[in-house]
Parts: sequence; structure tokens; C-alpha cells
Amino acid sequence: MKKIALLGCGAIGSQIALAIDSGKIPAQLTQIYDQSKEASEKLVSKLKNKPTIVENSHLLSSGPVDLVVEAASQQAVKDVALSVLQNRKDLMMMSVGALLDESVFEILSDACKEFSKNIYLPSGAIAGLDAIKSVKDELELVTLTTTKHPNSLKDAKFFETSDISLDKIDTQTIIFEGTASEAVKLFPANINVAALLSLVGLGSQKTKVKIIADPNTDKNTHQIEVKGKFGEMNYSIQNVPDSTNPKTSRLAILSSIETLRKYCSGGITIGT
Ligand SMILES: NC(=O)c1ccc[n+]([C@@H]2O[C@H](COP(=O)([O-])OP(=O)(O)OC[C@H]3O[C@@H](n4cnc5c(N)ncnc54)[C@H](O)[C@@H]3O)[C@@H](O)[C@H]2O)c1
Repeated sequence: MKKIALLGCGAIGSQIALAIDSGKIPAQLTQIYDQSKEASEKLVSKLKNKPTIVENSHLLSSGPVDLVVEAASQQAVKDVALSVLQNRKDLMMMSVGALLDESVFEILSDACKEFSKNIYLPSGAIAGLDAIKSVKDELELVTLTTTKHPNSLKDAKFFETSDISLDKIDTQTIIFEGTASEAVKLFPANINVAALLSLVGLGSQKTKVKIIADPNTDKNTHQIEVKGKFGEMNYSIQNVPDSTNPKTSRLAILSSIETLRKYCSGGITIGT
């Protein structure tokens, strides 16, 4: 049975831990870490099979684990991802925006080759990455329009310098239009989807992003338009936000659980 370590005990990390504990993911959760001791202790209290709470994030990959799950923040990726690979462990990463920093991407991708280890990026809050991967060489346009309730956009870096006050928005309002590269920097906890689309498709400078605040929605909606020689794809995903963290969609949590289940189970792989 695979041994898993967990970095980040928030909305995603907790649900992954519970899925392992219930047997849905056939694995053993051996070690966890969160910069908030309270968050780690709260999670351990909910589990039948108690993992060890380690003293710092680097200890997660020093023991006999197969894979470290990162479900914390872009900074956590920058701090520990390389040492996970150097310790010859696989990594499943949720804070994928960190990879739009080209130097981070290059260092980690070289380390995967050097240490023969893999980084897994779940599809997160969207569908269709498999198809975009297939048409990568024929892509001409990728646009993402994300619509969320203003509460789901709160605390984004963007608002430190913008005149827009989220509390005053009473109708659908375009908050941001630009490249995925800019979006990920200004909305780091909100727009991992833009990072995934960039990585799989045209890159972060050519992937266009629009963010809309809508006080009348209770969903996180991602509208994706893809065009090229192959034809066109248009799809929309209306996600229910997680009850503990409205910035994170339920689908992102379920997709992380499925990616880890597949890693731990082996067998027939369906889809591109
Ligand atoms: N790939 C996707 O589609 C997708 C979707 C949703 C969220 N995310 C990303 O996944 C990450 C986790 O999301 P979440 O909803 O569980 O967030 P959350 O805020 O509910 O939980 C994050 C937890 O990580 C801890 N943490 C943050 N930085 C840390 C660090 N440097 N070291 C140790 N612990 C740290 C926090 O204390 C918190 O308990 C976020 O970066 C989020 O942006 C990705």
C-alpha cells in the first residue's frame, strides 16, 4: 500500500485525508504538516488512523513515503517541491499557479527527470484538459471566463491596488481582463484553473482570462473557449463552492481525490 504525506490541512487536504481514512483511496496517510498547528490537530482528531504531525514541511519527504500531496499555497510549492523530488518522492500539487513562474517550472521539470520522479497536477475545477492536450499543436486561441460570488474573490492581491470595492458590487461586474500570467499573480488562490489551461495549452502569456464578480450566483463558473485548426470547443462548468472554503470548488477536491486514488490503485487508465 502506498504511503502518503500531506502538506496543508485545509479544505482540500482534509477531504483527501478523510478519503484515505475511509478506504476510498487505498493508501496509508503517514505524516501531515500545516503551518497552523490547530489545522493539523483538528484534522487528526477526525481520523481513525492517526498520522504523525511533523515539525516542518521538509520532514514530510524525509521518511518512507511514496508521494507528498501539496494542498497549501504557491509559497509552499516554492519552499518544498524541489526537496520532495530530491528525496526521491512523487508530488501531487494543487497550487499549480506556482508553475507559471518559468524558473520554478524549469527547476522542477529538470528535477523530475534527474530523480526519475513525477509531479501530478489534478484537473482541478475544470474538465476538458485531456482534449486540449490532444490538440495542443493546433491551438490558436484559449480563453477562460470565470464568474464567482464576490465573497469567493475576497483577499485577492488585485484589490490592494484596485478601486473596486467587492462589498459594493450589486450586479455582474467584470473585475479583470488580461493574461493568465497576470491573473495568477493577482488572484493566486482563485485562478489555478488559468494556470492549468496555460500549462496544457498556449502558455500563460497567450491564454486570455476574464474574471467576473456576480453577487447573484452561488456557483464558481468556468467558461472555456478553445479554437484552432482542429475545430472549436466551448464548455462551461458550474461548480458548487466548498462549504469550508468558498474559493475552492467541490470539483477541485473530488478531482484531487480521484488523481490520488488512481496513483494508489493502478489498473486500467481511461482518457487521454
Ligand atoms: N488546482 C486546482 O484546481 C485548485 C483548486 C482549488 C484550490 N487550489 C489551491 O490548492 C491550495 C489549497 O486549497 P484549499 O482550498 O485547501 O485551501 P485552504 O486555505 O482551505 O487550506 C490551505 C491550508 O494550507 C496551510 N498552508 C498555507 N501555506 C502553507 C505553507 N507554506 N506551509 C504549510 N501550510 C500552509 C493553511 O494553513 C491552510 O490550513 C491553494 O493554494 C489553492 O489555491 C487549487
